[in-house]
Amino acid sequence: MSGGLASKKIILCITGSIAAYKAASLTRLLIKAQAEVRVIMTPSACAFISPLTLSTLSKHDVHTEVSDGNSWNNHVELGLWADAMIVAPCTATTLGKMANGIADTMLVATYLSAKCPVYIAPAMDLDMWIHPSTKSNLAKLESYGNGIIPVGNGELASGLSGEGRMAEPEDIVTYLSIKLATNQDLAGKKVIVTAGPTHEAIDPVRFIGNRSSGKMGIAIAEECAIRGAKVLLILGPSNLSSNHSNVSTIKVTSAEEMYQSAVSNFEDCHVAVMAAAVADYTPQTVSDIKIKKKEGDLNIPLKRTKDIAAQLGSLKKNQLLIGFALETNDEISNANRKLQKKNLDFIVLNSLNDNGAGFQHDTNKIRIIKSESDIKEYPLKSKPAVAIDIVDEIVTLVKES
Ligand code: CTP
Repeated sequence: MSGGLASKKIILCITGSIAAYKAASLTRLLIKAQAEVRVIMTPSACAFISPLTLSTLSKHDVHTEVSDGNSWNNHVELGLWADAMIVAPCTATTLGKMANGIADTMLVATYLSAKCPVYIAPAMDLDMWIHPSTKSNLAKLESYGNGIIPVGNGELASGLSGEGRMAEPEDIVTYLSIKLATNQDLAGKKVIVTAGPTHEAIDPVRFIGNRSSGKMGIAIAEECAIRGAKVLLILGPSNLSSNHSNVSTIKVTSAEEMYQSAVSNFEDCHVAVMAAAVADYTPQTVSDIKIKKKEGDLNIPLKRTKDIAAQLGSLKKNQLLIGFALETNDEISNANRKLQKKNLDFIVLNSLNDNGAGFQHDTNKIRIIKSESDIKEYPLKSKPAVAIDIVDEIVTLVKES
């Protein structure tokens, strides 16, 4: 199955493993599947297979160094050009360098610049494969959102037998075509995402707010956009934004403004993701002039805001509605209560008890709860990687509906 690869721009990166000889057939298969291929090789890969073989098969020069004497190979441009980057075979050394940002090769420099999905086909001996250092580098790369192509099991170059062999070129092509084809699995869908905090004005200079950065919601909006959805991002006050051409943003300040935008755009949408940290209370009255300090304490009477998720839950016809719950205690039962009360299709639970999860972090650790008996738990990952897991779950439900 290689339909997903037609006219896809692929950077194939080859490192210094005996499995490098298989990169020739991988290149041939990618070209046969009508992909456009550019090859990067590490200097040690060139000891296993000649760049001339790869340049002949790919019909383009092979890049081995960031600078080759007179000219500079633009790794940033190459990283932006690609629809996908694949490292096959990937040695333990290159895994370590990618996981830790050691950009001393054209390969890792391009990896750090690439905006596209990255897939890694490791190749190494059994003992290297099972070493904790390899495992922790793989976990890091997965947490960055990179896909790891499962290794094969069998006879290894060392004479040992076990796991560590690079996946066969045919299997890599199948894996890639499925991954790249599924990237458009929200084509034709309209998705609303609420994100960021809200600010509830007290007077012209003060407000009640919260520490939400908007990162998680923006990552979800971008992941839906990458998969072909038209996304309306309803964003509270945040320094962050999305430049994706499929994302249009409405900037709002208060819970009431977010409510109005979400409700008026809900009817013709297919999926609504409520990732915003909406204030539950807002001042009963907003002073037109700056409130002056006086003797004694100040009390500001608050009233309830409207619950956007609950309102969309009551308006819902065929739309999918996803909510978030950030909890400190009785996490599952609190999340379950919100799932039912707001008529959500699933709720994403983050616990403030998990290190690295929640507001302001670049990482998150989630559970996806569809019902009391259907709970999926995920490891700590970067927010874009968490967004992939959430959107995968949305896609499953879209296909079922
Ligand atoms: N939510 C919303 N509008 C509100 C409050 C919350 O749309 N006025 C959404 C959030 O975006 C989130 C979900 O509801 O997806 C849960 O929010 P949370 O504040 O955790 O739940 P509450 O119902 O406010 O419960 P509590 O404050 O008791 O934890």
